[in-house]
Amino acid sequence: MKTHYLLLICGILISAVCAFIAYIEFIASEFTPKTSKNLEGIDDRIQNVLYYASLAPSSHNAQMWKVRINPSINAIYITLDDSRTLKVIDKKNRESYISIGCYVKALEMAFKAFNYKTITNIQEDSKQVLVTFSKENTGDINHDILDSLTKRHSDKQIFSDRMLDKDLVTKLSAVSDNAILLQKSDKSYNDLKPLIKDAVKRQTYDKMAVAELASYMRFSDDESKEKQDGLDAEQLGLRGLKKFFYYLFVNSSTVLTETFSKQTVSIINKQIDSAQAFVLLESYGDDFKSKVIQGMELMELWMFLTDNNVEVHPISAPVEYKDSINRINKILNKHTDTDMILRVGYAEKYLQNHRLRRDLDKYIEVVKD
Ligand SMILES: Cc1cc2nc3c(=O)[nH]c(=O)nc-3n(C[C@H](O)[C@H](O)[C@H](O)COP(=O)(O)O)c2cc1C
Repeated sequence: MKTHYLLLICGILISAVCAFIAYIEFIASEFTPKTSKNLEGIDDRIQNVLYYASLAPSSHNAQMWKVRINPSINAIYITLDDSRTLKVIDKKNRESYISIGCYVKALEMAFKAFNYKTITNIQEDSKQVLVTFSKENTGDINHDILDSLTKRHSDKQIFSDRMLDKDLVTKLSAVSDNAILLQKSDKSYNDLKPLIKDAVKRQTYDKMAVAELASYMRFSDDESKEKQDGLDAEQLGLRGLKKFFYYLFVNSSTVLTETFSKQTVSIINKQIDSAQAFVLLESYGDDFKSKVIQGMELMELWMFLTDNNVEVHPISAPVEYKDSINRINKILNKHTDTDMILRVGYAEKYLQNHRLRRDLDKYIEVVKD
């Protein structure tokens, strides 16, 4: 009799736990962002092109681009939105200009997918990029390009032990001639690792940098829906139960605490340890044009890695401090500064872009002459 009662109680407890987990999974279900493409006076194809371009990466997902389109002369002007730059960690707009470059390359690719030819002109004086477009042919839409644009993403997962494929390593040098690949077996990889960890730790305990980051962190699905930018749970790779507890316990005040910094450092250290390789991009110069070109090349490289199912995670803290840039130069015995550091490797599951992006009419102005 006693055994029967015990079994019954166990059954009820297990059912209650399962129901609770199912409930949490339900309320923490994946948030799917919706971006309105509606731009008055612009035809559907071009609206789509502009949407795919917006899937470009940007620091903190700040999407610091301002766009004007003049449909009567097929011209698109891209400039920096000063209200969206990262004034603490990116005083000279290095990363903002690189992000603009990523946007411009994504725009060119999206146009190509829809059978348009583009000409890009980076104007140093006005710090503006002009992209003109013209219809090339009436062929089919190139879905491979569009799929790659929606597949590309930043990945915070712990990477597997699988080494980078040999042929990929060979091909990489053909894709980019300013990329330096450091693999696990390289001495420089191991010299660089503690330096990357130091810089990340330094930034994680820098109250100003964390406050700036916090202003781009989203703490609920409603906030993501409203702001359509920044870093929400999904963007940080948190889903299901992890997402539920993240939104339950983390807010703009808790991210400024020592406990949060400690946890962040521990997570990032594990991510860094799992890097199969680091890819470093050497700087072309400090001016607007050089950084935009850097961003365009970064985007091309990222698309190449995406097409080969290699996960990419930029880690910028080491290139945001002059002394650590100098230390990188010393390790690699070079004089050209590094603009980007990417942690790369394979993950168990290749994810898609979360696509948290603003409605087109929030930042694109349609001009008529
Ligand atoms: C110039 C630049 C610097 C970045 N630096 C970092 C970084 O330090 N850490 C990080 O986790 N992601 C970094 N990212 C990735 C962005 O957070 C990411 O692109 C943005 O959240 C949009 O997400 P998506 O790349 O998945 O579309 C960087 C991206 C760019 C373009």
